[in-house]
Amino acid sequence: MKPKVLVTREVFDETFDFLARFFEIESNQSDAPLTPAQLANRLADKEGALTTLSERIDAALLAQCPKLKAVCNIAVGFNNIDLKACQAHGVMATNTPGVLDDSTADFTLALILATARRVTEAEQYLRAGKWSGWKLKQFLGTDVHHATLGILGMGRVGQAVARRAHGFEMTVLYHNSRRLSAEVEKNCGAAYVSMDELFARADILTVHTPYSPATHHLLGAAQFAKMKPGAILINAARGGVVDDTALIEALKRGTIAAAGLDVFENEPTLNPDFLKLTNVVLTPHIASSSEATRRRMAMLAAENLVAALTTGKPPNLLHPPA
Ligand code: 8YV
Repeated sequence: MKPKVLVTREVFDETFDFLARFFEIESNQSDAPLTPAQLANRLADKEGALTTLSERIDAALLAQCPKLKAVCNIAVGFNNIDLKACQAHGVMATNTPGVLDDSTADFTLALILATARRVTEAEQYLRAGKWSGWKLKQFLGTDVHHATLGILGMGRVGQAVARRAHGFEMTVLYHNSRRLSAEVEKNCGAAYVSMDELFARADILTVHTPYSPATHHLLGAAQFAKMKPGAILINAARGGVVDDTALIEALKRGTIAAAGLDVFENEPTLNPDFLKLTNVVLTPHIASSSEATRRRMAMLAAENLVAALTTGKPPNLLHPPA
């Protein structure tokens, strides 16, 4: 008898076929997000789960899943999983580090360029049939080349963004919970500064921290007030790191100039005030979504699940904070 696993959302055929070699699968290829009650119900007799950000794995759920041994997230972020509760219930949790850094960094550059050069705003104008002719002052934007880029959170994705920024001859500053080695700094061409200096000097500030209680609303009214009035904020990391209500206020008042956002608090519900602003570029949490990368993420999560339930040693095992 093969162990039973749940695949909570639609996956690629190759991921499904790989898992089917090892497990009896209950899948959700219709892709309808599961409510907590549906999730608990479906996991009651399962030993493993392939999960996404849309499922909350916490103590209340785990108490209803006596057979569960492994939860393997198709994401590098794992703020949907309570690691302490997993540990208490003897459940292994894994993520997908390393396979999405370049795609996410590419997309960060896309947001930077689209926001600074008003790409989506200009396209909407064109599509609405409003373009009556060329004008010298039309859609004046901000230059990305030679600007100062501030990177808040200098892990794998932040470093990949730094390397790309040099193609635009940007000055790259960063702040991270711990300073990087001189060798990594040199490789990224990035100078370490305090958080306040980062806010004060960045023309474009991009966030790449994980979301946790420690980074909740790391960027709010007080931080926006320290930024340049012409500054642009980019967030392709996690909703909740930025206080969306404070950001909307800062964008309305001109405390900062614009924002490019791929992630939001309370996804997929968006603060409706974002939609009223023209100085924001908004995308639906797709920074890692190149076809090749999403396939790699799903397969890595599946490999973690197979290793967890066969050897007990998944390659990307997560540990609760000490
Ligand atoms: C995922 C992400 O697509 O990996 C992450 O942490 O934010 C995205 O790349 C998303 O989390 C799906 O679960």
